[in-house]
Amino acid sequence: MAIEKSYLDKFIKATEKAAIGAYPFIGKADKIAADQGSVDYMRSELNKIEMNGKVVIGEGEMDEAPMLYIGEKVGTKKGPSLDIALDPLEGTNFVAKNLPNSFSMLAVTEKGNLFSAPDTYMEKIAIGADLPKNLLDLDNSVKKNIQLLSEAKNKKIDKITACILNRPRHKKIIKELENLNVQIKYISDGDVSGAISVAEKNANIDIYLGIGGGPEGVLAAAALSCLGGQIQTRLVLDEKEKERVLKLGVKDPAKKYNINEIIKGDVIFCATAITNGDIVDGVKDLGNKYEVSTFALHKDLQVVKKIKNIHLK
Ligand code: FBP
Repeated sequence: MAIEKSYLDKFIKATEKAAIGAYPFIGKADKIAADQGSVDYMRSELNKIEMNGKVVIGEGEMDEAPMLYIGEKVGTKKGPSLDIALDPLEGTNFVAKNLPNSFSMLAVTEKGNLFSAPDTYMEKIAIGADLPKNLLDLDNSVKKNIQLLSEAKNKKIDKITACILNRPRHKKIIKELENLNVQIKYISDGDVSGAISVAEKNANIDIYLGIGGGPEGVLAAAALSCLGGQIQTRLVLDEKEKERVLKLGVKDPAKKYNINEIIKGDVIFCATAITNGDIVDGVKDLGNKYEVSTFALHKDLQVVKKIKNIHLK
């Protein structure tokens, strides 16, 4: 069943408010304060929404996050049962250093339809729309995946662009991409928007790959499922984390998850830019009001829009 139409605007308001909450901390070198600003605002807005909402991906376990912790119930406790994955501030470094591409974001499904990924690392490989289902596989070599993509897109390998987080752990993948003469777009943070960029025509990114945060992988999957893209993921766990995720109910920690196992049914996704983003503009302070811009998606209603709104101070 589709999530009722009016909910998109309600959730947009939650990410807009969260972005406004982080705005005063842009360039202030204080990641924690920025995060707190956005969490407070998002939580208060979510609690106004008529729903039995549950945070499935949030700020952390209950003992480490006082607000928007995993399992926290949000909303008025009347209305539809919805599961929410949220990241009130994706790209804490970007806000702290006044760099582009920080967002307040969330994804919503009906109850039980969202993979509750633990806060560990995750391998990811994402591609855009109109490509054969399950084209790529994390167990293929980088070379094989790039070749498959090049054939499916009918695009020469040296014209393929791969987006990857610039991290020492990606040395091997980067070497392989360089050997293939693939164009590389490095990002310093923010792998949700990195992964989503594969489905954005203007971004000119053909593939996103590498290891980033697990919760961020679920948010990216939510957006990609609305945009017709694909993502395959696998948790990256040390022994201690393996034990922890087994306790959390993940039955097979080594499993590869395709997009339809990460996110099922109808999906709402909203991302409001805090600093200027590649997808939408950042928060603008217009004196007595803020202008905010959001990338908003509603899968079943086939809504893909970029929307600007004004909030009076
Ligand atoms: P935060 O906003 O929580 O700082 O996350 C930023 C981020 O770049 C994510 O987009 C990404 O998934 C993760 O950090 C990568 O982790 P690491 O910085 O440890 O490589």
